[in-house]
Amino acid sequence: MKGFFAIFLAGLVGSCVSNPINDLVARGTSIIPSAAPTPTPTPPLADGLRVDKNKRSKNVHNFFKAYGWLKKDEVIPDSKLPAAIRKIQKILKVPETGVYDAHLDIIMSKPRCGTIPQYNPSESLENSTLQSRYVLWGPKWDHTSITYRFVNYTADLPAAQQRSLVGAAFARWTQIAPITITEAPSSTPRADIYIRFMTMGPTEDVYAFTNMIADGLALSSGLINITFNDDFAWNDDRLFNYTAVHEIGHALGLSHSKVEPAIMFPFFEGDIRPIHPDDQAGIHSVYGWKNPRWSRIDSNVASKGVIQISSASGAVSTLDGLYQLRSTGQILRYNPAGSWTSVDNNKGTIQIAGSNNFLCQRHIDGTIWKLTAGSSTWQQISPASSNVIDISAAANQVYMRRKDGWVARYSGSGQSWLTVAQPSALASRQLAASDSATLWNLLANGDVVRSEYPYTSDGWQVVDSNPSNIAIAVGGEDFYKLQSDGSIVWLDSTEWFWRTIEDDESVAVYAVGSFVYSRHKDGSVWRYTGSPGVWEMLDGRADSVVVVGDRKGGVWEMVSGGDIYRLVS
Ligand SMILES: *[C@@H]1O[C@H](CO)[C@@H](O)[C@H](O)[C@H]1NC(C)=O
Ligand SMILES: *[C@@H]1O[C@H](CO)[C@@H](O)[C@H](O)[C@H]1NC(C)=O
Ligand SMILES: *[C@@H]1O[C@H](CO)[C@@H](O)[C@H](O)[C@H]1NC(C)=O
Ligand SMILES: *[C@@H]1O[C@H](CO)[C@@H](O)[C@H](O)[C@H]1NC(C)=O
Ligand SMILES: [Zn+2]
Repeated sequence: MKGFFAIFLAGLVGSCVSNPINDLVARGTSIIPSAAPTPTPTPPLADGLRVDKNKRSKNVHNFFKAYGWLKKDEVIPDSKLPAAIRKIQKILKVPETGVYDAHLDIIMSKPRCGTIPQYNPSESLENSTLQSRYVLWGPKWDHTSITYRFVNYTADLPAAQQRSLVGAAFARWTQIAPITITEAPSSTPRADIYIRFMTMGPTEDVYAFTNMIADGLALSSGLINITFNDDFAWNDDRLFNYTAVHEIGHALGLSHSKVEPAIMFPFFEGDIRPIHPDDQAGIHSVYGWKNPRWSRIDSNVASKGVIQISSASGAVSTLDGLYQLRSTGQILRYNPAGSWTSVDNNKGTIQIAGSNNFLCQRHIDGTIWKLTAGSSTWQQISPASSNVIDISAAANQVYMRRKDGWVARYSGSGQSWLTVAQPSALASRQLAASDSATLWNLLANGDVVRSEYPYTSDGWQVVDSNPSNIAIAVGGEDFYKLQSDGSIVWLDSTEWFWRTIEDDESVAVYAVGSFVYSRHKDGSVWRYTGSPGVWEMLDGRADSVVVVGDRKGGVWEMVSGGDIYRLVS
């Protein structure tokens, strides 16, 4: 096997000479991917829709009302509609064309919340600057033990099931805020929040709304009603859950967010998503954090690093979870009940990596071993070699960086590896891959190149040529880079444009699924809220070493000295 490996590599060296990096740079590609993937054009509206001015106008008005941009009964004249549409497009971060197109129509035809915040004169102005983030009502609960009660139920589902659905929706918020919410016992005369179902008539298209009565700074007990529109069928528990979590956000003091994937965005598909970082930042800004914010789950000076295996949504694996590597070579897996289980124990193990369905370990002699979900034996997937720098894993791939500058990936069988076209002998500084196995490679000179699965002869595309690039991260399909000036830059693939999302003192970046974390020079750890420039500090300690997370929003960190913590707020 050793011999095969060597011959195989030798056979490919020739191709790298014919494809020097300078050629690629000369193609003039410093900002946008060289094979400039063009944004998918928004399909034109079907003629029927184009002429449906009523629908366009109604949707624009509804959008404006959801953010308090219209006074009661105020009407946007037709001549102002293009400007109004541009404002909506700004919130949705799509090109500001002023034209009501299919994209807008799709978003605005989703299930909608009917909660109407107070008129916001400063945001209602035509050219007002809009902060794309969570919005607060202002008032909040002045006590931390909040109660709720069902006024009545929908006939669509058994009452017990509605109570458990709503109880779980409240728990989504109490998991991250220092408040408790319980069903009011029937002996108490009054609850804080009421839940009811009401027929709203054939013309009403909102799924639910919450009305808010506040007495000065505090929400008023007994006057906060979450009303579900009983003209919809609530036996889809997906939609029920989502609507309940959204309306409860209102009942706790949150208004409509301008971050589209946030739970508090006024239009939603009903897909069950984790609470978005923007929602978390919102609720924390109202009630603060649970105390303590972090819970220690291990304390051992031999802890050397942690990784999190978090399969892409829909592909949950029995191997998903948190793993640590000890300096003794032992690999341990965290059991959410609180204990650690030994997974393997070889003193030669110096690195672990994993992704959908598998965990890998790299030994000091260069051998690599793989454990696949459902199997109890480790399979050797690479012979000993002094050429290996490290491995990384993403999607269903294992990648290897090598001292000779090549990047290889495991072929999937035996101990054979395939090289990914390498433009020159320039060493790779870091690899990162997306859920669809697009491989990104940060080169020693700061160039960022990428190759799409299955990495055919087209090879690497230069995406960026910037000596200040020092690290990269990929979450889902989104690419981020860290620059030596401390900024984090995201590649906006809707417009193929670099957007700085953080310009402050970052020294490390980590992304998983839709979550992005940064560590600052002072050791503090931050989570991106989805709005450029807006990050929430998760931890202010100076000695954080590694931060990892899963796709549901779970976060773990290891600090110097080996202690490992889980974020519990
Ligand atoms: C808003 O900005 C646009 C473009 O910059 C400009 O044409 C328009 O006059 C402005 N409107 C107001 C009310 O300032
Ligand atoms: C629930 O109670 C409200 C009054 O609070 C009433 O208008 C509505 O019709 C009731 N709904 C059902 C399904 O009984
Ligand atoms: C909430 O519903 C109750 C009846 O269940 C009603 O008395 C109260 O006025 C409602 N509050 C608002 C703000 O509509
Ligand atoms: C909705 O919530 C209930 C209660 O937690 C849960 O059993 C159910 O699986 C959820 N439905 C979906 C689609 O997530
Ligand atoms: Zn709402």
